[in-house]
Amino acid sequence: EAETLILAFETSCDETSVAVIKNGREILANIIATQIKSHQRFGGVVPEVASRHHVEQIVHCTRLALAEAQVTYQDLSAVAVTYGPGLVGSLLIGIMAAKSISWAQNLPLIGVNHLAGHIYAANLVKPISYPALALVVSGGHTELVRLSAPGEFQILGDTRDDAVGEAFDKVGRMLGVNYPAGKTIDQWAHEGQDNFDFPRAMLQEDNLDFSFSGIKSAVINTIHHAEQVGQTLNKKDIATSFQKDVVEILVTKTQRAWDQGDYQQLIVAGGVAANQGLRESMQQLMASRGELIFPPLRLCGDNAAMIGAFAHVKYQRGEFADWTLNADPSLDF
Ligand code: KG4
Ligand code: ZN
Repeated sequence: EAETLILAFETSCDETSVAVIKNGREILANIIATQIKSHQRFGGVVPEVASRHHVEQIVHCTRLALAEAQVTYQDLSAVAVTYGPGLVGSLLIGIMAAKSISWAQNLPLIGVNHLAGHIYAANLVKPISYPALALVVSGGHTELVRLSAPGEFQILGDTRDDAVGEAFDKVGRMLGVNYPAGKTIDQWAHEGQDNFDFPRAMLQEDNLDFSFSGIKSAVINTIHHAEQVGQTLNKKDIATSFQKDVVEILVTKTQRAWDQGDYQQLIVAGGVAANQGLRESMQQLMASRGELIFPPLRLCGDNAAMIGAFAHVKYQRGEFADWTLNADPSLDF
């Protein structure tokens, strides 16, 4: 049986990543060069800085990926790349790299939606069974998605304002935590006391949408108020209450979506899927309901392996891109 080897690129934000994926399920290489240190002093990702780093890193990462996978360009079946959503300048670096190799080696080119990639990280753990429900939680997105068949996505719920990762990062910034703050807040949340009661927006509303700007503002107001009256707040207690409330919102809406459907699996994906509090609560929710897939931490954050995993679906369907493939910063499903 012929094997399919896909070389995949991911440069949508602040990670330069190149992977080699076999048959959509096996990671032969997954090189991830993070730029976080260069952005930290600005408190967030600076697009211009990100693009320059991708330019500097991408050739080296490609060589490393091929060497680690022990393959050459001649062994490849196709080249895949994230074309959105993300930062336009960053996306373009990956697209140019993929197009160059596609042209020079006469390989089919595949454009991949970054969010589809996050969901298909699950396929690197075990085969997705359909219909599946996916909760995508990242720095830019908070979505409940139905997968009726491979590559068939339907958005069931979305955020009305901030993405959940964005809320973690903004609250973290107020607490003096370096960008990206999610991991530290998560650690603190296991060391503090649940002493605050923040609003859990839209919890009672009978829909599958999210809102995180209210809870973020409530946390920020609490910190400001304490500063004004000269009171010292326990940062770990704030982190504990904030995370508990955010997790409750995510779990409640996911439960509602699951109970309305006929799903085989729940997939929780994206950078915030690394959150320990979320992982524990989702495990409790699903214990009596069905199968839960959390990709391992390395596949939750941005990486090219997940892009190669979804590219395989498009490869099998012959859904190839041509030279007009362009960055689409606000791409959705
Ligand atoms: O998927 P990702 O790597 O990049 C985007 O596509 O946005 O997600 C990054 C986000 C950041 O907001 C970061 O703070 C958050 O994921 N994050 C976490 C944790 N680890 C990363 N949030 C909560 N708990 C964590 N353990
Ligand atoms: Zn992402």
